[in-house]
Amino acid sequence: MHVDLGNALETTPGLTRETLERLDERVANAHGRITAGMAGDEFGYAALTLPETADPDAIRATTDRFDRPEAVLTVGIGGSALGAATIANALDSDVDAHFLDNVDPDETRALLDRLPLADTVVNVVSKSGTTAETLANFLVVREAMTAAGVDWTERTLVTTGEAGNLRALADAHDLPALDVPDGVPGRFSALSTVGLAVPALQGHDVEAVLAGGRDAMESLSGSLFETPAYAYGAATYALAERGALTNAVMPYAESLETFAEWFAQLWAESLGKDGLGQTPARALGATDQHSQLQLYRAGPPDKLVSLIRPTERAEAPIPETDLDGLAYLGGSSLGELLDAEFEATEASLAAADVPNLRVEIDRVDERNLGRLLYEMEAACVLYGELAGVSTFTQPAVEWGKKAARGLLGGGDFPEADAVADKRELR
Ligand code: PA5
Repeated sequence: MHVDLGNALETTPGLTRETLERLDERVANAHGRITAGMAGDEFGYAALTLPETADPDAIRATTDRFDRPEAVLTVGIGGSALGAATIANALDSDVDAHFLDNVDPDETRALLDRLPLADTVVNVVSKSGTTAETLANFLVVREAMTAAGVDWTERTLVTTGEAGNLRALADAHDLPALDVPDGVPGRFSALSTVGLAVPALQGHDVEAVLAGGRDAMESLSGSLFETPAYAYGAATYALAERGALTNAVMPYAESLETFAEWFAQLWAESLGKDGLGQTPARALGATDQHSQLQLYRAGPPDKLVSLIRPTERAEAPIPETDLDGLAYLGGSSLGELLDAEFEATEASLAAADVPNLRVEIDRVDERNLGRLLYEMEAACVLYGELAGVSTFTQPAVEWGKKAARGLLGGGDFPEADAVADKRELR
């Protein structure tokens, strides 16, 4: 990706060249810490070695056991779904990808009613193998398959860690299974078995996704001026220090809408610790120019906007017209219009002193997606190092998971007692 910090330098709460130069010394130290963590295969940092350690042949060997299906249904939540969803929703395929990440009964029922279950691969993903939402959804899906006369053991792929209920289920039924690599937290697992099985089932080039990740990995240096990932991580951190506590991520490409969701999880769950962090907001250009942009430009001055776009887009010429007042559109293209909207938003924010960062990728394809995902993960890790937070843990998320399980009788958890006490007070 290419990162342009120009509109963060020009705005009032923004950065100066001197700030960035001073920060660059801290970036060099953080980079030393990151590379040591990668070399030592330390928890979390190991995710940044995935472009080299992930094994696309092993993924394919497992996914090739299924004939090209009509659909893939991923049952997983959070980091066990969003990486695959980002890639699947960015790229075209004749294999439909669906994601069951919530336990909304209406949605689950409606999805199961319309899926061609006999020609669907069910991809159940849980690193811990114990997440209640995922396992509950899977039990519902399994029953629906049986009711439809489909042998679920023939149509199910499991991706999980070494232990847990899901591993036990895979072993008991001899299901095809992929391992979640050690040391890789859910939200950093897009470039592993967790994120790559769905694209492999859809016929995408997973080697190219990893090659993009490798390009990014090789570009990591000790300076924010040479490393786009670090430029983004350092600038967002420094802007947060100056009050930009919301980061509105606004891709100008429908294909990257899920990327904004993935980014929001990465940023919130990794950096929201110890009273620190930066709230990610999701927007889509140009659609949200007609809604959220009002707030970003004229609301509380506590935001930065990350504007993201591919520089190469599909051709879609706008037909010539002699309709009154519309002649200016004819001969142009939808892509040109979208780019004009992008630049208009950028300029409008800068004119109102709202810091904004321009992030560009060459095009939306496997290689550039792999690179983008890796670079945003590296940016997040750098931000975490600069802020001094424990990027790879998620105690607040774990609290809720335990409380919910305990409430349903799935174990003895003090977190569940706290909820039960509150229920009694009502
Ligand atoms: O990033 C994380 O750690 C979380 O979002 C997890 O991915 C999510 O809670 C799902 O966990 P699991 O894969 O254990 O089911």
